Amino acid sequence: MDKHNKRVVLVTGATGGLGTAMCKKLYDEGFHVVGNYYTKAKADAWLEQMKKDGYNVELFHGDVSDFDSTAAMIKKIETDIGPIDTLVNNAGITRDMRLINMGKDDWNAVINTNLNSVFNCTRNVLQGMIDRKFGRIINISSVNGQRGQFGQTNYSAAKAGMHGFTKSLAMEVAKLGITVNTISPGYIATDMVMAVPEKVLTQIVAQVPMGRLGGTEEVAHLVSFLASDKSSFITGSNYSINGGQHVY
Ligand SMILES: NC(=O)c1ccc[n+]([C@@H]2O[C@H](COP(=O)([O-])OP(=O)(O)OC[C@H]3O[C@@H](n4cnc5c(N)ncnc54)[C@H](OP(=O)(O)O)[C@@H]3O)[C@@H](O)[C@H]2O)c1
Repeated sequence: MDKHNKRVVLVTGATGGLGTAMCKKLYDEGFHVVGNYYTKAKADAWLEQMKKDGYNVELFHGDVSDFDSTAAMIKKIETDIGPIDTLVNNAGITRDMRLINMGKDDWNAVINTNLNSVFNCTRNVLQGMIDRKFGRIINISSVNGQRGQFGQTNYSAAKAGMHGFTKSLAMEVAKLGITVNTISPGYIATDMVMAVPEKVLTQIVAQVPMGRLGGTEEVAHLVSFLASDKSSFITGSNYSINGGQHVY
């Protein structure tokens, strides 16, 4: 991409561990970076720190689990900033428990935030991408959507659902200059993962043939590749990035 011809990228869940690294990498690659946030208090501090670090990114509020909130946010971004060329569906939550203990709210919250959000965001940017004959849609799934995980029926179902969405939409828009791909990270060294007790972390790392956690910047690098012009023949794909934890 021509560094001076800035494409607008929207990263949902921008203020989280992976979202922050994605925003920084995409900014470094010359994108006009727009982040989405949910929790205001956290967002203010995040934006201040990003500006201090030299990242002139912008942040818009929206609940991506809700269609109307997402539609209003995207309309505001496109009015204030310009058309969204690249969408990274990254926002996500977990509510881990065995199915036998899972309530309807725990199921719905995870499906709405991790999977319905992908519909809510994509549906609201797609017509513009079709009109402009260019688009990049990158869905952040998880190794646990590929292999399943104890206590994560809701999360695994949502993350696995992204693959069907990615493959089907990729076929629908393949002739229109729009690519749709999924990234499935394994365990990444975000604050949340680093906060787990050392004993548990040791057990997690022991499952990874590379013997380490992934870096947030390693996932961000893959996002920036899939967002670039260089990835134009790749669509409907899933990229595992898990240090060999799940191979198939
Ligand atoms: N970290 C890992 O090891 C790992 C591995 C595999 C996959 N993933 C996936 O990667 C993505 C990012 O993970 P992360 O580790 O960076 O998690 P994180 O630090 O918890 O960040 C998640 C982000 O999603 C946002 N979010 C939650 N609900 C939202 C909503 N309704 N509307 C808009 N934003 C919402 C959060 O905003 P607030 O904080 O404001 O609520 C937060 O910014 C997730 O989809 C996760 O499932 C992570």
